[in-house]
Amino acid sequence: MSIYDLKGRDMLCLCNFSAEELWHFIRHALELKRRYYAGERVIPVLAGASVALIFQKPSTRTRVSLEVAINQLGGHPMYLGWRDLQLGRGETIHDTAKVLSRYVDGIVARVFDHGDLEELAEHSDVPVINALSDFTHPTQALADMITIYEKFGRLRGLTMAFVGDGRDNVLNSLLFASAILGVNMRVASPRELQPEKSVMDRVEELALESGAEITVMEDPVEAVKGVDVVYTDVWVSMGQEDVAEKKMELLRPYQVNRELMSYAKETAIFMHCLPAKRGEEVTDDVIDGTQSTVWDQAENRLHANKAILSLLL
Ligand code: CP
Ligand code: NVA
Repeated sequence: MSIYDLKGRDMLCLCNFSAEELWHFIRHALELKRRYYAGERVIPVLAGASVALIFQKPSTRTRVSLEVAINQLGGHPMYLGWRDLQLGRGETIHDTAKVLSRYVDGIVARVFDHGDLEELAEHSDVPVINALSDFTHPTQALADMITIYEKFGRLRGLTMAFVGDGRDNVLNSLLFASAILGVNMRVASPRELQPEKSVMDRVEELALESGAEITVMEDPVEAVKGVDVVYTDVWVSMGQEDVAEKKMELLRPYQVNRELMSYAKETAIFMHCLPAKRGEEVTDDVIDGTQSTVWDQAENRLHANKAILSLLL
């Protein structure tokens, strides 16, 4: 199979794609973005296709950018709240996957348990795309790589510092993407919240080929010194409300503020997947400051989703 033949593949984790395949998504997204700005608002490669969007958690960016993406590709998006489906009354994931596969051309799902996504993919006859799970958020990290590439004109050899929760789902996807694409990563988080060994083992394996240097440390200043990108995410992810107090306490020294940003390169950018908790993981002056790229990141979710849907479906 050609590396450019991605039709029928699932996207549950970026760790299942090669560097060439990730570059293919990135280049395709940039091409779709260019054509959009040149006035081609509709590129109907999904004409007649329907896509199920199953959401077990709230969403602004992922849901809206997916619905708009499918619309601009000429397809029909169907938002399906978990509780509105029979899934919410106990119908199995197996049966749901079988039935939806008879109707739609692709399933995108945001779930709590990553295992549910794997089960959905196992029993679906159509591609399944992860719209965020407790483990990963691949469509976000792909859009982020596109944003970084737009800002610097390259990926390989750049260094990103992620400051905050070392077990964050967005971070896991950023680690996989960076390891595959050759972006050096420094993760700064308290000892109790550093990345899982199983994640780091996989990341180190992937980094062997790209040469990316991936390091984990406790000191946020050490992590941010001289980097090109400073990234953070919320301290309390959706579904972690029961451990919110403990996490807030551990993560308080990891706020990205103007002082911390001053250790990065002058040309460094600040990134956040959003939604942000202003005053917690990031201060207003940083997220609204000149180094912030958060709105470009949010916009690129649309172009990344168009590339993902048009290449996989
Ligand atoms: N970044 C992101 O996935 O945002 P939403 O939760 O609003 O979709
Ligand atoms: N880590 C966050 C990301 C939201 C897009 C969460 O899971 O809530």
